[in-house]
This record gives sequence, structure tokens and C-alpha cells, in this order.
Amino acid sequence: MSEWTTIHTPVIAGNWKMHKGPVATHEFFEEFREVYHPHEDRTIIFFTPAISLTAAVEGLGDRADIDVGVQNIHWEAQGAFTGELSARMAWEAGARYTLVGHSERRHLFGETDEQAALKVRAALDADLTPMLCVGETLEERRAGRVQDVIVRQLEAVAAALSPERLLRILVAYEPVWAIGTGVNATPEDASAAHAVLRQRLHDIVGDAAAGIPILYGGSVKPDNAAALLHAPEVDGLLVGGASLDPRGFATIAATPIVGG
Ligand code: PGA
Repeated sequence: MSEWTTIHTPVIAGNWKMHKGPVATHEFFEEFREVYHPHEDRTIIFFTPAISLTAAVEGLGDRADIDVGVQNIHWEAQGAFTGELSARMAWEAGARYTLVGHSERRHLFGETDEQAALKVRAALDADLTPMLCVGETLEERRAGRVQDVIVRQLEAVAAALSPERLLRILVAYEPVWAIGTGVNATPEDASAAHAVLRQRLHDIVGDAAAGIPILYGGSVKPDNAAALLHAPEVDGLLVGGASLDPRGFATIAATPIVGG
């Protein structure tokens, strides 16, 4: 039997990358719990370093409105893979989500589309909800290849899943040139890319594609979060640098929803 978490959109997620060990994680949640109050109409996720996951679970205490996840998993369930962790291990430690194919994994650690597909399958096998990250580099954007690149990255994973399993994933559109640069995509650019992804998902699963959350990520800050979140086709935000500050991230997490 699977134990899936219910996902309310918008989904607002923090990706801490290689920041905050267990001590800083405890400190963060002590403050975050005070400044961010539960909202039933959204899903909040923190992708902490794996070593800080237990501290995050402890720090969250009774805050069932907030979930935690890991930033990466290996696709095997166990074995001689020094330094790696499996989806099941992450789940046991309290993770309910995992990022897959983040651009830093792809560009700094050579992760391929094939590996992303294996990881998404491994996550789903362990009841961990994968958030597949896709996005083009500046060079690819300038060459007019945004659509080609993000569709290729999505299809590599979709081809490895049944339509039912595809409905269990989340997608994050994160243009590489916007990550950590302070230059966010415009809401219009985000909407356009999300519409491409949504159309491709629709081709595969039909109208149910509307239920697959597509998040925008890349230099989301408290002062641009509302405009990006309210853009058509944007179902959430994946926040890197600005998720490290409890007050700033609380502001982003509490962004009012318009239009329903
Ligand atoms: P950023 O990172 O918000 O610091 O640009 C986003 C991400 O990499 O997920």
C-alpha cells in the first residue's frame, strides 16, 4: 500500500543546497515556526541537506503543514555505492519528497536524463514524491532551444513511467541562467515555458495534466514571488538562496493566492 502525501497547490519549496547542518537547521525552524503560520491551501516543502533531515523533522515538531525532502537520491535501493543514499532511507528518515535532476546535479555532477529517469522511478517505488527539475542554459535560450531542451528533459522521465505514475510527480522549471544569479525569468517567460511543459504532459495523460504541479525556480525573492506565483500556469515556487532566511522565506511561503 502506498502512503502518498496530499499535495495542495501552490507548492512553495525551499532548496537549501549545501547550507545548514543540524544545528543551523534547529535554529531555522525555531524561528520559522514563529513567523510562518499554517495555511491549509498550500504545500510547503524544505529540501534540506540529507544530514539535516532528522533535525528538520525534530524542529518542525507538530507542524504537519510542512514537509521535508532530500535534494538527491541514488536509484538503487541499497548496495556498494559509497556516499549515496536511497529513496527508502530518505523516506525512513522523514523525507516525503526528493528533487531529481536539479541543474547543479546535471551541470556540476554530470547527471544525465537517463539517471534522472531512474531516480524518479526509484523515488516512486519508495513512496517518495519526486520533483523533476528541468531548464535551459543561457546558451540554449539564445539559440532558441528552450522548448527542445525542457521537453527532452521531461520526456526522458515520462517515457520511463506509466501515465498513472507520471501523475505522481511534480515538475520545476528552473532556467539555469536564473539560478543564483539574481536575474529571475519574467512571469511571461515562466508562463510560456510552463505552458510548453503542460502541453507535453497533456499529450501523455490528457486533462489530468492540469493536476501536475509545475513550479518556477530561479532567483525567487520576497519581492518577486507574488508576480511569479500569480503568472498563468505557475503552480508554485522553488526557492534557493531566499529559503535560507526564515523571515524572508516565511513571506514567500505566505504569498496570497489570487483567483482561486
Ligand atoms: P535560487 O536557486 O533561488 O538561489 O536562484 C533556485 C534553485 O536552484 O532551486
